[in-house]
Formats: sequence, C-alpha cells, structure tokens
Amino acid sequence: MSARTSPATQFEKIPVVIHPSAAEAAAALAAEVRDLILERRAQGKAAVLGLATGSTPVPFYRELVRLHREEGLSFHDVITFNLDEYYGLARDHRESYFRFMQEQLFAHIDLKPENIHLPDGTVPLDGVFNHCAAYEQAIVDAGGIDLQILGIGRTGHIGFNEPGSSQDSLTRLIPLDLVTRQDAAPDFLREENVPRFAITMGVGTILRARKLVLMAWGGNKADIVAKAVEGPETEAVSASFLQSHPDARFVLNADAAGALTRIRLPWLVGRAEWTPKEIRRAVLWLALTDKKPVLKLRDGEYNEHGMAELLTRYGNAYNLNIEIFNRQQHTITGWPGGKPNADDTHRPERAAPFPKTVLVFAPEPQDDSLGMGGTIERLVSQGHDVHVCYMAGGDLRVTDAEAVRFARVLLETAEQQSGGWSEQTEYARGVLEEIETKGPFGDPPARLRRLKALIRRGEARDSALTLGVKPGQIRFLDLPFYTEGRYRQFRLSEADIAAVGSVLATLRPHQIYITGNLADPSSVQGVAFQAFQAAWEARAGQAWRKHCHVWLYRGQQTEFAPHEIQMAIPMSPDQLSHKLSAVQKFQSHTVPELLDGERNRVTARLYDALGTAEYEAIEAFRRWEG
Ligand code: GLP
Repeated sequence: MSARTSPATQFEKIPVVIHPSAAEAAAALAAEVRDLILERRAQGKAAVLGLATGSTPVPFYRELVRLHREEGLSFHDVITFNLDEYYGLARDHRESYFRFMQEQLFAHIDLKPENIHLPDGTVPLDGVFNHCAAYEQAIVDAGGIDLQILGIGRTGHIGFNEPGSSQDSLTRLIPLDLVTRQDAAPDFLREENVPRFAITMGVGTILRARKLVLMAWGGNKADIVAKAVEGPETEAVSASFLQSHPDARFVLNADAAGALTRIRLPWLVGRAEWTPKEIRRAVLWLALTDKKPVLKLRDGEYNEHGMAELLTRYGNAYNLNIEIFNRQQHTITGWPGGKPNADDTHRPERAAPFPKTVLVFAPEPQDDSLGMGGTIERLVSQGHDVHVCYMAGGDLRVTDAEAVRFARVLLETAEQQSGGWSEQTEYARGVLEEIETKGPFGDPPARLRRLKALIRRGEARDSALTLGVKPGQIRFLDLPFYTEGRYRQFRLSEADIAAVGSVLATLRPHQIYITGNLADPSSVQGVAFQAFQAAWEARAGQAWRKHCHVWLYRGQQTEFAPHEIQMAIPMSPDQLSHKLSAVQKFQSHTVPELLDGERNRVTARLYDALGTAEYEAIEAFRRWEG
C-alpha cells in the first residue's frame, strides 16, 4: 500500500517523508542529487537544479559541499536556477540571495559561473518585465529544471509566491507579505529595512520542474506544512499547488510533521498507540475541542472521536477522566526546585537535595526572563543557588542607533576629563566612524559587535538582578558560533561546546533550565541547544549528571501545549507584573507582543478550561531526557 493510500495518511495529498533529523534528510536528498548529476552526465546531458535560499536548505548545501570535497563529486556541467532575489539588492549586498548562495554553496564547489542563474535584483523597474521573460526562457533553453528544491515560508509561499499567487504565475516582481518581512527582520536588523519587493519564479514556473522536493524543519513550520499537505489547493497557500504535481514530495523532520493528522490526531486515522503520553494528549485534546473540563467528559464523546478503545481499557469515561485529571493537576507546583521535607511522590521535582544548584541557560538575553522569569524569582526566594548563563551575546539585535548613543556618551565623558582620556576618545570616535562607513546594511565590524554585546549584557544583568539573581552568579559565554556568525548561517564549533561544558563542569547543577528545543535548528536557540546537548553528552559518565534534571522552557517560541507540560508554575497578578518588569529591562530590542504576559495568561486559561485550577498566569516546563 503506498503511503498516499494507507489509512494513516488518508488526509495527505502530497507524499511526505519524515526523517529523524534535518541532517539525515539533507544527506539523503544530497545523495539523490548526486545520483541525478551522474545519471544525466552518463546520458551526455547537464543536470539542471532549481535552488532555494533560507535556513532550510543550509544542511543540504553543506552535504553537497562535502560530497564535492570528500567524494569528488563534480558540478562542472551542472546548471542552476535560483527561485528568487530581493528587489533592490545588489549581488554583493550582505543579504542578497546571490551572496547567500556564494557563501553557502557556489564558492565551495566547481560550478561554472556562467551556469549559475539568479534573478537580478538591480534591473530598473522598466526592465523587470523583460528580465523575467528572459529568465523563463533561460530555463526552457536549459531543457527545464530536473529537480527543484523548495523551502516554505510561514505564509505558505514557495519562492516568494505570496498568498494570492495563481497556479500558472510566472517569474515576476512581487510585493512581500507582512509576515514574510517580519520573518526576515532579524537579517536586516529591523522590519523597515527589509525590501518590499522581490523577483520570484512563479508557481507555474516551479510546477514545470520535473521533480519537486519541499523541505521543512522545526515546529514553527508544522501548521503551514499541514495546511499545504492536507488542506485544499488554494492560492492562499502557494505550496498547496504541489498537490497537483506528478512528482512532488515534502521532506520533513519530526517537528515539522507535527501538525499532520497522522501525528497530531492519530486516533482519528486508526493509528494510535495508546502510550500514557498519547492518552493524556487525546483526553486533553477532547476536553479542549468539546469545551468541557476533563472530569465532565462522557463515554459518548470518546466514542464519537475515535477513542472507543480507551473506554474499553479503562472501563468507563470516569476512570479515564480521573486519571488524566490527576496527572494534569500534579504538574502544578509552586516549588520549581522541589518542596523541601514534603512527600514528592506526585510532584514534578524531587524534594532533596535542598537547596539545589540551579543553572538557567538563556541562549539569547531575554529568553530567560520571558520564558521563566517568575520561576527564577521563586527559585531564588525559596533559597536555591541560582545561576543564569547567557550563551549568545545578542548584539545582532541591537540597532546602530543604540550603539551611537552609547559611543556618544563615552565620547563626551572622555572629552570632559581633564587631560582627556585619549584612548577612550579614540575608541568612541572609531566606533562612530565604523557605523558611518558601514552604512545601514554593511557587515558590522567586530569592535562594533562587541560594543552592542556589552549594551545587551547590561540589560541582561539588570533583568537578572531584578529577579533576585546574585551579581556573581550571572555569566556571559559569548559563544563563538554567534559572535562570528549571522542569522540563518550560524555554525556550531568545538569551542562552543567546550565553553558550555566548562560551566557544567564548574557548577555540576542539580537542575538545568534551557530553551530552544530545536523548533528551528538553525536559530540561535537551536544552535545553542545543540551546544548544550553535545556538552551534556560528553559528560555522560559523571556522577552529578545522574542526579541532574533538565527542564525545557520556551523563550520566544509558542508555549508548550497542556499535554506537553510536566511542570506548571503558577503566578499571581503581582508575580506576573514583577516578571514583566524584568523582561522590560531589554530596551535595545524587544518583541512587543511578548511583553504583556498574555502567553502565560493563555496557559493559565487552558488549565482553567481543563478544570484543574484558575490562576492569573502560568509558566510551563517539560523534562528533557536526553
Ligand atoms: C524566504 C525564501 C523562501 C524560503 C523561505 C523560508 O521567503 N524566499 O524560498 O523557503 O524564506 O525560509 P527559511 O528556510 O529560512 O525558513
């Protein structure tokens, strides 16, 4: 039975392959591309590849480079066409897709420059139409695209075919959607710097390729992936048009596949394995879907939603309800570090030892206070030894204007000193000059990045102090993957892992809190988490590790769903305001929609809807078992 027709995948209208990790998926796809190149070469033809930008294809490009370097795969006769380019950006612009492709792939393999094609973002407006027509013709002249690689934007776009793009659209100039521009904002420092237009292959151009592979990693893509695969074919989600292509597939990691029916609601497609986790997920889903507290669910509702088997197991709805109600109830605790001298059989965290050494990792400054400010405060006030460790400097989020302000204060201070502070004056002038020379889009020199990191550091320190953390227990790792990298292109190195490892070795904590559980593996949080994971695994045999619990929290990503939560720390209205005052110490950059505590209120409302307890706000955690 093909994947398309099995009951589990009955809602899927495009073949989907789910790999354990992005790296494995990328390696399999790169091997397929190698075979294609060799096959075409054996036929005396050139393989024509359609390429994409964004963080998604990065592991795939790394694998192609490896195949070239280590296995001698040549690209000398390969022809490439890229999907799109920002309009208005020259090829050498730091954020142009041309430059991205150079850095990620072209510069590392033996493609001939004349075989590389990208739309030109600098053609004058009156030349755009002809330029696009010529791009289409060049694809035809090359014999058409053999294999087109695609990513997917949060609006469901492929290339830059924003909602509204028709199925037969061709290469053209297109205005970018607000969501797309927001997603690109970190690359350009702020939203208003993101180009408003792009030149993109059309949906029709893309569908003409002989084979299409759309890749997606991370939970932030899960919803849009499910819409494209299971929803109707619609201009509102241009990736959904892959449904009508004879040879298209989605290649996903487990997180990106998370919203497909077979994964999200397997009991609806006859595929449920009733593990305790799955039972909890199903019951909470039913309660929230039917808008009934858990204890009021009845047999009929279970039957109607494909969960009759559960009733058989438990005898009746009441037994099942009470078990799940108790489990959910036991996630709630006011004692994140464990309640000393209390029975901890049903508590998320053990009572002993007390006090605990607690290590909070913040991949980027502000992740800690946003995700678990209330919990940090409780841990401190309950007598634990709390350390906060900022992993990345966070300077890429600080604007030039902020750096100018600090450099000017320093300059004035230095100039006012009798005798003058010549070195300081020179430094401040140097920074101001660097900002001027680089312009709004130039690469920030290391010295400027350092100043910005210090600005961010000051804010982080203020915020941690507000939560009661002792000044000597705030650490800044300035991990090199971040200091030397840029958004979407961070690379983890041994130096990162060693730095995280040395904190673990020094503190030997009883509890670790960290965010960034790979929703987007190429994000700062994703890479920082990988650094932690490697450092953790390197200490597998050490005694302290056996007694250390690792808790995941959410920083800027969507909060855990109720069924995922293993520890829920409630907050009173006053505790929530105090937490927010710590969050608001970050002035140089902030995400306004995260500043009002609504996310924590939503979790509390869900607990209320499930019938467990009614609080103002809740911070949520999940155990990480390695
Ligand atoms: C941009 C590109 C798309 C890409 C999308 C997702 O909009 N034009 O081709 O698929 O971003 O980017 P990422 O892979 O970084 O999530």
